[in-house]
Amino acid sequence: MPEDNLVLVEGLRKWFPKHTSLLDRFLGMEREYVHAVDGVSFAIRRGEVFGLVGESGSGKTTTGRAILGLTPPTEGRVIFDDVDLTALDKTSLRKMRRRMQVIFQDPMASLNPRMSLGEAIGYGLRIHFPQLSSDERRDRVTGMLDKVGLSPANYFYNRFPHQLSGGQRQRAVIARALVTQPELVLADEPIAMADVSVRALLLDLMNRLKREFNLTYLFITHDLATAKYICDRIGIMYLGKLVEVAPLRELYTYPLHPYTQALLAAVPIPDPHRRRTKPMPKGEIPNPIHPPAGCRFHPRCPLAQDICSAEEPPLVELRPGHTVACHFAEQFLP
Ligand SMILES: Nc1ncnc2c1ncn2[C@@H]1O[C@H](COP(=O)(O)OP(=O)(O)O)[C@@H](O)[C@H]1O
Ligand SMILES: [Mg+2]
Repeated sequence: MPEDNLVLVEGLRKWFPKHTSLLDRFLGMEREYVHAVDGVSFAIRRGEVFGLVGESGSGKTTTGRAILGLTPPTEGRVIFDDVDLTALDKTSLRKMRRRMQVIFQDPMASLNPRMSLGEAIGYGLRIHFPQLSSDERRDRVTGMLDKVGLSPANYFYNRFPHQLSGGQRQRAVIARALVTQPELVLADEPIAMADVSVRALLLDLMNRLKREFNLTYLFITHDLATAKYICDRIGIMYLGKLVEVAPLRELYTYPLHPYTQALLAAVPIPDPHRRRTKPMPKGEIPNPIHPPAGCRFHPRCPLAQDICSAEEPPLVELRPGHTVACHFAEQFLP
């Protein structure tokens, strides 16, 4: 594995058993599975922001959670800094957790309403750095409050989540994630619930902290405009599969997969003189219990031919660092 990969995901699958009734089972119905993540491989390089982008239900969150060891994969491996997380016992995995933190979409749900920010942010330090004295712990927490812009830190130290604005709460969640000095941060739609007015501020903050602490981000979003703002490389997910992976500028300039092209065409354009955005192509995301055969996008794809429902296209590198899974992508090469 080349040195610059912090994370390597190999053939990751996560199937959730669908609940079947007792009667169904009595009648001999086969157990059905939600194919949330269905064979995904990619690498996250040290120091980059890798974006996982796709519509709701495409398997982004499940992929992120499996990478952090928060949910055991059905199949496949996750290598973090040369260590196979999927082979670790619970104790060793817990030790690795300090190096991987997560920022979720809803800061209110991720903060305990009965804990002051000081307690909430100090909690991870108690667990992962038990040798710290309470004064040292307080210093680290107030230092981190300052870094995320919650100043004066001594004031915010004693605040409770309900006393903060949404943007301040998300800053507190960021502080809590970073205080244990992680290397990888999973940011799962971190600004989706924030006011439009503070979204750019939060992204700028995350960018600044990333540089200051040499972080690597796995950044999950359904929104290509957000991804464009912060990501270095992007993986486009559709129905549990990666359909295209490329560096940011490359992807936006030469989108090779019809699904990526459709997503890009649906991004709102701020310029009123340009044409209105196109809606997404016909139909909804199909059911991940019985995903379409062949290419999963074929029922919605304007280019679909017979081969698309018969054969699943592999991810192939069509330009340097740019991989795509489509039987007909070559026609879009510049
Ligand atoms: N714990 C779970 N049990 C059953 N199905 C789940 C569970 N978590 C996610 N799913 C299903 O897996 C699919 C992918 O979900 P998710 O990873 O949350 O997608 P995304 O984050 O892209 O919206 C969806 O169909 C979702 O309903
Ligand atoms: Mg999600």
